[in-house]
Amino acid sequence: MQVVASGAAPRYSAAMNYRHAFHAGNFADVLKHSVLALCLEHLNAKPKPYRVIDTHAGIGGYDLASSEAERSPEWKDGIGRLIDADLPEPVQAMLGPWLDIVREMNPDGIKAYPGSPEIAARLIREEDRVHLCELHEADSVTLDNRYRRDARIKVERRDGYKALKSLVPPKEKRGLVLIDPPFEDRDELAHMAEAVMGALAKWPTGTFIFWRSLKNLWAADRFDNGLAEWLISEKDFEPEKILRADLWIRDLASEGKLAGAGVVIINPPFTLEETLVNAMPWLAETLAQGNGYGWRVDGGLTEDDLDEGEG
Ligand SMILES: C[S@@+](CC[C@H](N)C(=O)[O-])C[C@H]1O[C@@H](n2cnc3c(N)ncnc32)[C@H](O)[C@@H]1O
Repeated sequence: MQVVASGAAPRYSAAMNYRHAFHAGNFADVLKHSVLALCLEHLNAKPKPYRVIDTHAGIGGYDLASSEAERSPEWKDGIGRLIDADLPEPVQAMLGPWLDIVREMNPDGIKAYPGSPEIAARLIREEDRVHLCELHEADSVTLDNRYRRDARIKVERRDGYKALKSLVPPKEKRGLVLIDPPFEDRDELAHMAEAVMGALAKWPTGTFIFWRSLKNLWAADRFDNGLAEWLISEKDFEPEKILRADLWIRDLASEGKLAGAGVVIINPPFTLEETLVNAMPWLAETLAQGNGYGWRVDGGLTEDDLDEGEG
């Protein structure tokens, strides 16, 4: 893989300022969480138990009336635009499983938003398991308090990247890994690539979802293409086993807040690409916050795509 390996160890010292409460329910969460819910529903289609590993779990659920959400009400232009929308059928197919959870949590108007652990907690079955890693001290306590009575869910205050190595393959041999770091470290993509390569080498059949911003489109493309190249050329993956989905709500070159983000999915459900392609035009238009909004869904990267990513 030619990606971004810096060799530098992750730096956690002064950092860990990121609080997802400022961003919960924004456009990036809409895409990430709807994809997560679709992948979990796909796992539920077979009776065999599975495991979900969430390496950067956050606090599990978010109060949209909290001071953080009030100071930064990004959710209003994400989940806020969708919760009561009349969804065309293809959009319902993409957003339905995730929106059902948000609606279930909010019978009397939207006040709360589910993080990735809550989406997993509400979709897994009795026999399935969830492993949550959260390194931030206070957040890991909040997370643990939320799930300590749920025997299906284990919470660890631990570096999710380091934990991942020892957590895969899970004994169920089926399941999903979500890697959703805060990108406070400028080498985050390198750490993600390293962790992912290690984990995929040990568990090539697991479904992996990685979130990354499009603040630096070149770096994101380099990460995606490097990963695809490594998987295809060195691990004999079929190109269809690598899918990426990105959404941007205004021109990616515009100044200010995050304009675009997306996910890369390894071993996606085979129907996921079509589900996303059918819904993303409506979603991009509905969530747009200016000119130059758009989306892309790429499955089955070709040799040409990989060449473009080099250099
Ligand atoms: C983007 S948020 C996670 C949001 C969550 N996945 C969701 O979708 O609801 C990233 C979280 O990772 C935590 N974090 C940062 N570095 C970490 C590490 N090395 N291992 C585990 N957690 C980490 C942060 O404290 C933060 O809560």
